[in-house]
Amino acid sequence: MALLLWLGLSLLVSVQPSAVKNCHPGCHCEVESFGLFDSFSLTRVDCRGLGPSTTMPIPIPLDTAHLDLSSNSMGPLSDTMLAGPGYTTLVSLDLSSNHITKVSPNALSKLRYLETLDLSHNSLESLSPSCFNGLPLAEVDLSHNSFQEFDMDVFTTKVNGEPVSVDLSHNKLVSVSTTLHGRVLHIQSLNLSSNQLLSVPTLAGLPLRYLNLDGNPITRIKEGAFSQLKDLVYLFISGLRELQEIEPHSFKGLQSLQVLDLSNNPKLKTLSPAVFIGLDSLQELNLSGSGVASLPNNMLTHLPSIKSITLGESIQCWRTQKQGQFHRQLGQVQHNDVLSCNVEGIVL
Ligand SMILES: *[C@@H]1O[C@H](CO)[C@@H](O)[C@H](O)[C@H]1NC(C)=O
Ligand SMILES: *[C@@H]1O[C@H](CO)[C@@H](O)[C@H](O)[C@H]1NC(C)=O
Repeated sequence: MALLLWLGLSLLVSVQPSAVKNCHPGCHCEVESFGLFDSFSLTRVDCRGLGPSTTMPIPIPLDTAHLDLSSNSMGPLSDTMLAGPGYTTLVSLDLSSNHITKVSPNALSKLRYLETLDLSHNSLESLSPSCFNGLPLAEVDLSHNSFQEFDMDVFTTKVNGEPVSVDLSHNKLVSVSTTLHGRVLHIQSLNLSSNQLLSVPTLAGLPLRYLNLDGNPITRIKEGAFSQLKDLVYLFISGLRELQEIEPHSFKGLQSLQVLDLSNNPKLKTLSPAVFIGLDSLQELNLSGSGVASLPNNMLTHLPSIKSITLGESIQCWRTQKQGQFHRQLGQVQHNDVLSCNVEGIVL
C-alpha cells in the first residue's frame, strides 16, 4: 500500500526542481526530474548578466541541457568560449544580447546535440559557411543583428535532414540567397520581417511552410515571385508602406497556401482577380488596412477554398452559395458561389 501510494505520488509530481552541486556562483542551476522513479532528469542553468569580469567558458554541471548565457557582453565568440565539459550535451543555448560581432568557425563545433540557438540582439554581419557544421539545429534566432546579406547555405552543413526554423527579422537585409546546387535545404519557417528587401527574394529549393516579409520596402510583387514555394502554407506580406502593385499571377505556384496576410499596405489600391490565380487552397485573406476598398465578385473563380476575406477592422466577407435555377439540360439545380459581406457596397 505504501509502495503504491509512493508510486502514485512520484507519478503526480512529475517535475521537481532541486539544487545542483557545482553550480557556478552567480548562476542559477536547477534539475528537473520526471518520469517514473525520476528516471529522466535535465539540468537548466541560468547565467544571465554575470558582469564583464567573467571568464569563459563558465563551468557548468556535466549534464546541462539548457544554458542561458544572455547579456554577458561576450564579444566575438572564440573557439574556446563554449568548449568546456558539460557543453557537449546542450540542447538549447541562449547567447542573446552579448555584443557578438563574430562567431569563429569552430566556436559551436562541440555542441553536438544543440537544437535551439538564440543569437538575437547581437552585432553579427556575417557567419562563416561552416559555423553550424554537424549541429542538429531545429530553431535558430538571428533576429536583431546587422546582416545585410545572408546566404542560406550556412544551414546545409547541419547534421540531419530535420526541418529548421530561422528568424532573421530586424536585420538590414538587402539580399537573401541560396546557392544550393540542386540540394534541398530543410528550412520550414523563415522570418524576414523588418529588413531592407526591395523585392521578394528567390527562395528556390527551400521547402518553406511559413514565410514572413512584413515591413520591407518592397514596391512591387512580380509575376511568379513565389513560384518555387509549393509547400508554403502561411505567407505574411503586411505593413509594406511602399507596396503599390501586385502583378497578375504573382502567387502562381502557391498551391498549398492557406493564409495570406496583405494587411496594412496603404498604397495598394487595386487588385485584379488574376492576382489570385493558382491559390487553390487559400482559406483566409487579410486586406485590412490596405488601400483596397472593394472586391470584384468574380475573384471567387480563382479562390475555390476561400472561407473569409477581411477588408477592415470590422468588415468581413464570406463565400456563400446562392441557389440558382433548375437547369433543364443538366437536370439539377445550379449553385452560384457569391461573396457576401457584413457591409453593403463592397462587392462589385
Ligand atoms: C517574425 O518576426 C516578427 C518581428 O520580430 C514577429 O512579430 C513574428 O512573431 C515572427 N514570426 C514568427 C513565426 O516567429
Ligand atoms: C488582419 O490584419 C490586421 C492588421 O494586421 C489584424 O489586426 C487582424 O487581426 C487580421 N485579421 C485576421 C482575421 O487575421
